[in-house]
Amino acid sequence: MQISFAELELPISGAVAFLAEKDKPLTGLAAETDRLAGGAVSKAISASRFNGSNGQTLELLAPGGVAAERILLVGVGEADKLSAQDWVETGAAVTAALLGSGSSEAVIVADVVGADAVGLAEGALMRSYRFDKYRTKEPEAKKPTLKKVAIATASGDAAATFEARKAVIDGVFLTRDLISEPANILHPESFAERIGELETLGVDVEVLGEAEMTKLGMGALLGVGQGSVRESKLAVMVWNGGKKGDAPISFVGKGVTFDTGGISLKPGEGMEQMKWDMGGAGTVVGLMKALAGRKAKVNVVAVVGLVENMPGGNAQRPGDVVTSMSGQTIEILNTDAEGRLVLADALWYTQDRFKPKIMIDLATLTGAIIVTLGHEHAGIFTDNDEIANQLSKAGLETGDKVWRLPLHKNYDKLIDCQVADMKNIGGRGAGSITAAQFLRRYTNDVPWCHIDIAGTVWSDKDLPLSEKGGTGYGVRLLDRFVADNYEG
Ligand code: BES
Ligand code: MN
Ligand code: ZN
Repeated sequence: MQISFAELELPISGAVAFLAEKDKPLTGLAAETDRLAGGAVSKAISASRFNGSNGQTLELLAPGGVAAERILLVGVGEADKLSAQDWVETGAAVTAALLGSGSSEAVIVADVVGADAVGLAEGALMRSYRFDKYRTKEPEAKKPTLKKVAIATASGDAAATFEARKAVIDGVFLTRDLISEPANILHPESFAERIGELETLGVDVEVLGEAEMTKLGMGALLGVGQGSVRESKLAVMVWNGGKKGDAPISFVGKGVTFDTGGISLKPGEGMEQMKWDMGGAGTVVGLMKALAGRKAKVNVVAVVGLVENMPGGNAQRPGDVVTSMSGQTIEILNTDAEGRLVLADALWYTQDRFKPKIMIDLATLTGAIIVTLGHEHAGIFTDNDEIANQLSKAGLETGDKVWRLPLHKNYDKLIDCQVADMKNIGGRGAGSITAAQFLRRYTNDVPWCHIDIAGTVWSDKDLPLSEKGGTGYGVRLLDRFVADNYEG
């Protein structure tokens, strides 16, 4: 969808969206339009339950006396109380209401006091994403019609400010694309190729195959992929936008392109969802696209472990012992606890090679995090209060919310093992925490935070900023985290 900013030009021929404050009379152009339309807008308001509450919409089709083909009223509540994210969601509500309306163009009149034109644009664009490349027979009548949204604003620098946000949204859309792809199309090899496309933005990309990883001793990651006919990969992305020689910040992602559970096979029902078990890697890759796209002034390294967890003839078995790159050994008690094995080697490799200031990993690591937090917050695990606070703040600012959960040595004991240095599962309780404790053993005390995004990368229902499907969760969160704390 195309977004533009312009001073209002009348008449508006497509759809026009007015922002309405709660329990306040129409003002400005909305009032003028109502007058031209012979009071149709105020009549519609009194005939309905629309009172301008935040999130409400009211649509009038083809009102007489004005050129617009439809008028959309969007409630904003009390405009002066809205957060940046509220404005983004208001913009998204316009797209959600008009995407399949029949109108191909819309103007959002951003004239209420305090309206954030850039935020409205960001939301309008975010909500326009659709993954429909495999739908060859969708009837025309069901396809989206909205192609252009203009934000009518007097603010002259909105378009320039929006450029950087647009780059971040391009990153979000890449993440949604990757998450939505089925696993026969997106496997470790094709995923690595997609990552190679970031080179056009100035990101250096390096891909390690099984031979290189064997040399490095990455027995934990390689063990997960050994049941698959697809070669496991480790992709490394480097963006040097900061000062030369400055230690980078780093992001590490779990990229299990499909998680059958391996020999500890998952039940069939719902297993198709495990195509998005590469969500951590998908988010990290989208983030790199965002940062490079807006030329972020920071040095960043990203590492993603790409494997397919399959129950093949060569698959690893419960009871196997593997040696990780760190030298620590692991007894595999459940081949379905594979994400931590992939991350163990990816984390160790990242700190060993790049000596980063911080490491943040993202992973669809545990079903338990969904039991704990549902789909509203991702879980964060860190010993570092500063990182926790920075992430929490970025979460509130972007709507990609996080909630901190504990790490503690008493949980760490739960993964101690008789046979090897550790086992890959804890007991019955605290499944997300024992998984985090496991990862902690591979951080070599570099300031680190683990983000369990199993509950947030995919949505079974429409959300304010995304249709049912991949949400792109985490890209805007981490872009903001970087912008607020590590640039300039
Ligand atoms: N990829 C799953 C976690 C997951 C579950 C993500 C549901 C999204 C939705 C992970 O590899 C896994 O299977 N975890 C196990 C761990 C257990 C065997 C200790 C789990 O959560 O059941
Ligand atoms: Mn698993
Ligand atoms: Zn998994």
